[in-house]
Amino acid sequence: MYALKGNIIYAAECGELTVVQNGHIGVDGERVAFVSGTLPKAYQDIEVKDYGDRLIIPGFCDLHTHAPQFENIGLGMNLQLLPWLNQLTFPTEAKYADKAYAKEKYAHVISEFYRFGTTRAVLFTTVHEETAQVLVDMMEKSGICAYIGKVNMDSNCPEFLCEDTEKSLAETRAFFERNKDNQNVKPILTPRFVPTCSREMLKGLGKLAAEYHAPVQSHINENLDEIRWVGELFPEAEHYADVYDRYGLLNDKTLMAHCIHMKPEEIEMLAERGVYAVHCPQSNVNLASGMMPLKPMMEQGVRIGFGSDVSGGHVVSMSEIMVLAMQVSKLRYQQNPEEGFLSFAEAFYIATKGGGSFFGKVGSFEPEYEFDALVIDDASLGKNGESDMIERLSRFVYKGDDRNIVARFIKGREIQPPRFD
Ligand code: GUN
Ligand code: FE
Repeated sequence: MYALKGNIIYAAECGELTVVQNGHIGVDGERVAFVSGTLPKAYQDIEVKDYGDRLIIPGFCDLHTHAPQFENIGLGMNLQLLPWLNQLTFPTEAKYADKAYAKEKYAHVISEFYRFGTTRAVLFTTVHEETAQVLVDMMEKSGICAYIGKVNMDSNCPEFLCEDTEKSLAETRAFFERNKDNQNVKPILTPRFVPTCSREMLKGLGKLAAEYHAPVQSHINENLDEIRWVGELFPEAEHYADVYDRYGLLNDKTLMAHCIHMKPEEIEMLAERGVYAVHCPQSNVNLASGMMPLKPMMEQGVRIGFGSDVSGGHVVSMSEIMVLAMQVSKLRYQQNPEEGFLSFAEAFYIATKGGGSFFGKVGSFEPEYEFDALVIDDASLGKNGESDMIERLSRFVYKGDDRNIVARFIKGREIQPPRFD
């Protein structure tokens, strides 16, 4: 048991920030024991790490990104989704058949999460089960908590990535069996998106979802050409969400990235099933996909997380994603003033406790929460004596960067820069 001392800020409720200036967080094993101004009497003898005037905030959660696409950051930015996949993304992903290649590239991905204070992440890899396992093993060593998926795709994709359905399902089962009892890095079912999955594939994955009560991640309603194509491929379905639903792939452990061009019935369906809509504003701007109806979906009770969606998105930093989510929301507000726009406190909640809830009691400093935290030294960003803690947090999120993050804790332990030798 030990305690951290500093200026504590977290969001227990969406839209509200809790501040304990010059306070203590007690950590018992992996979890928060208490947050208080002075050290409670019963704990007078425990070790206290004193971070002085620094800020202590929950770690960031990235609920959607693609590990093999980190090498493409900044490329293909004149393309929209379908040509972007065919011309840039699929050829890159093919390279991850090679174990040595994947090892080198995935080491960089993990270092980037560490650097930017992403303490929890949910990732796509590629169709290659062997190198998906490489990422699982490396991530497990790093101390960062993650869900990692081996991608399934058996239709409408280039031959060099197109899988045999039976083999893909068998490999996915093996991947699950091998990793389901891991400490920090768990498997997640990962149909790429409807256009690259046959009915047999979706059916097989739905069966695995039921058998393992497995989490699921995919993409939905990102791009208008994609949506038209889904309508042609699955004319029997009411809408895009209905395709996933027919195969049992929408549940309270499902992440659906993008959710931009949503029919009202689809929003209702996601809310009813407890699905998480993962907002990836930077990717949505870069690929000219559109603006997610974020505020209406929040109003209707859909659970929300943020995703960097590299390499549709070009940054890993969840602070930058928070800022862009607020900016895009304000642009949408101009056309739809009745929706209001995303506040700073709401964005901070989504980046921490909102996304963290996918992992359990994560993303807050309430008692019993797993202790994931970042210590922020913002002395270089302005005159701290003249600002309150919420102003200082806002300033860090808008103009700070990874250099301001001076310590990272996950599940109660301070983690060190990842090494893979
Ligand atoms: N839809 C299907 N695959 C992808 C992908 O890799 N990135 C994004 N942004 N959308 C997708
Ligand atoms: Fe994506």
